[in-house]
Amino acid sequence: MKFFIDSADVNEIKQANERGWVDGVTTNPTLIAKSGRSFEEVIKEICKLTTGPVSAEVISLKADEMVKEGKALAKWASNVVVKIPMCEDGMIAVKKLTAEGIKTNVTLVFSVMQALLAAKAGATMVSPFVGRLDDIGTDGMMMVSEVIQVYRNYDFATEVLVASVRSPMHLQSAALMGADIATIPFKVMQTMTGHPLTSKGIEMFLSDWNKAQSK
Ligand code: G3P
Repeated sequence: MKFFIDSADVNEIKQANERGWVDGVTTNPTLIAKSGRSFEEVIKEICKLTTGPVSAEVISLKADEMVKEGKALAKWASNVVVKIPMCEDGMIAVKKLTAEGIKTNVTLVFSVMQALLAAKAGATMVSPFVGRLDDIGTDGMMMVSEVIQVYRNYDFATEVLVASVRSPMHLQSAALMGADIATIPFKVMQTMTGHPLTSKGIEMFLSDWNKAQSK
């Protein structure tokens, strides 16, 4: 299972990378705005921190503009993946960019049928947003399991990139379902390392060791 970090904060990305948790990076306009840096500068820097795919999102909503923007983004670095919102114009853009060998990540996917259409258009990755579905009382992970099933039924090469991950449970379910990738905020990655019995065990081993030394 590939782990992407959902962040435009280079310090976070460096820390996650040090721990072996970064197979790629996803950004979105909100995360870029939060970084307080220019889009181009931050994407180029992130692309140097990893050899894995780095998603950079287009802002235009018209197919031709998306293609133009996507082509420009793809020139920033060889590992840029153009993130395109799920909509009809977006699908036209995905088909055109794919035909030119540019990788795409279709974002803001909230249904199995949207994921199927994105795969038909030739998307490299598709991003189902689980947390935002949970927020409105729908089971986000259920949708992911159905997307995985549909892609398997028809041997689609499109990778399932679980996004809007809010908790370790999202990750655990995604891993059990066999999702190709999950993009995870650094805080959630850190939450997963701890367990009360691990902390208790470390404390006990150290205390027993120190007692033995003082004998
Ligand atoms: O990058 C897209 C996605 O992961 C956003 O997550 O928490 O804003 O729904 P969230």
